[in-house]
This record gives sequence, C-alpha cells and structure tokens, in this order.
Amino acid sequence: MALAVSLVHGALPLPWQRTPLDWPRDVSGCHPGLSIWEETGNSIARHLWDAGVAISCHFGQLLDEKSPLAQALFPSGLRAGLRVLELGTGCGVVGIALAHILQDATVLVTDLPEVTEIIQRNVSCAKPAAGSSIRFEKLDWDSVLPSSLTTDAMTFDLVLAADCTYNPDSSPALVDTISRLVQRSSSAVVAVAMKFRHPSEAVFFDLMTAASFLQVAKISYPLPGDSTVGDDTVYLHVYQHRGKSPRTCVV
Ligand SMILES: C[S@@+](CC[C@H](N)C(=O)[O-])C[C@H]1O[C@@H](n2cnc3c(N)ncnc32)[C@H](O)[C@@H]1O
Repeated sequence: MALAVSLVHGALPLPWQRTPLDWPRDVSGCHPGLSIWEETGNSIARHLWDAGVAISCHFGQLLDEKSPLAQALFPSGLRAGLRVLELGTGCGVVGIALAHILQDATVLVTDLPEVTEIIQRNVSCAKPAAGSSIRFEKLDWDSVLPSSLTTDAMTFDLVLAADCTYNPDSSPALVDTISRLVQRSSSAVVAVAMKFRHPSEAVFFDLMTAASFLQVAKISYPLPGDSTVGDDTVYLHVYQHRGKSPRTCVV
C-alpha cells in the first residue's frame, strides 16, 4: 500500500500531514505543496524518515540568501546551474523538495535499485521550479561510482544525505562515497541530516574527520509540529573538505 505525504513550506512551526492523499493540497499563503508517495510496509528505504521530512520543510529558507541554511548550503550564493546530488534518497523527499524550491538547478537523487519504482513514481509527480530538473540514478555506496558520475564534467555544488547514518556498519562506505564524489567537486558542500538514535552513529562523524572533512555548520530543526529542541530534533551537519577556509557556524 502506498501513502502520499503533503509537505508545506512556510513559517515555523511547519505543518505537515500524513494522510492518504494522492495529490498535493493547495495551501494558500505558502509555497505550493508537494506529495511524496511512500509504502506502509517494512522497507527501510521505501518510507519517509524524519530527517528528510524535517529539513525539507525548511528549504523555503534557501530563497533568503541571508538565512543560515542558505549560507551553509550555498556559501557562494544562489546562482543558476547549481548541481545537487542526494545519496540514499529513499522516496526522494529531500531532492524533490529542493528541485521544487530552487530554480535552474539540476538534482540527481540516488539510492539502491530497490527504491527504483517508488522514486520514479515520485520523480514523475514532481514539479521542479523553472529551469530545474530531477532524475534518479542507482548508486550503491559499496560499489564503484556509476561511470556517468566519473567524468570531469560531472561536478556537484551540494551533496546531501538524510537519515543515512543510522547504521554504523554502512558509515565507512558512505563516507568513502562522499569522498569520491568530492574529489571531482572540491568546493562542494556536504550536508548530512540525522536524528540521533544511538551513540554508535558517532562513527560517521569520526570517519568524516578522518577523511579530512571539516564541519562548518550544524543547524537544529525540531520535527514539524514540535516547537522546541528535544530527543526528536533533527540536526543538519554541514561539511567542506579541508583546504577551503570556511567559517564555522552553529545555529
Ligand atoms: C533510513 S533511509 C533514508 C531515506 C531518505 N533519505 C529519507 O530521509 O526518507 C536510508 C537510505 O539509505 C539507503 N542506503 C542504505 N545503504 C545504501 C548503500 N549501500 N548504497 C546506497 N544507498 C543505501 C537506503 O536504501 C535508504 O533509502
């Protein structure tokens, strides 16, 4: 069984509903809503996780270049032609929400083959902003990068992952994949959203440090509907590869 989730970009606290809708609601006063299909079964990949939903609800802030989120994710400013790659996209909420907000952006969402059907469904329902596009490509952290990503022309401004650090056994491959992607995109920003579930997840941060990534920002987001920081708070960790001279900012 599949459900659709409506996300609404707006002022905090951000509303969201999990209802069996099959098309976006029209919410006046906000950015047009978008719907994301997910499954109600046991698949980890084919349902929505909190970190992706939480950060996606705040992407409207990216349109304000002075916002902490815009400054962290796009330190060189918003410009036409931004290239974004999402790892472990699942149902695609993060990449689709970004393509929905950013104009003239190219968004590539990636994951294991098991998500192909649901992500293709969500991508086909997506309504990217003017000049923007989104597509899915299979990318397994445990394999070599797809050949389409290993050309010198394929660079990224932003590499994103949401709720992909819950399994510490996967962290070495995830960090290795991020490192390989950033080799061709040395000024890329890497943003990792997570809801901290277990101390073992800290290995991801140790591995990022060992791989010469410097955390340049950490932004906290209460879950939609919550107004205060708590156990369910989602943190967006923003990194740049060493060699840059980033400003550090914790919000
Ligand atoms: C907890 S889900 C998060 C999904 C989505 N980002 C969200 O926020 O709803 C973790 C995702 O990582 C993906 N993943 C796990 N191991 C992977 C691997 N080796 N290569 C690529 N993706 C992987 C899973 O398929 C899944 O979609």
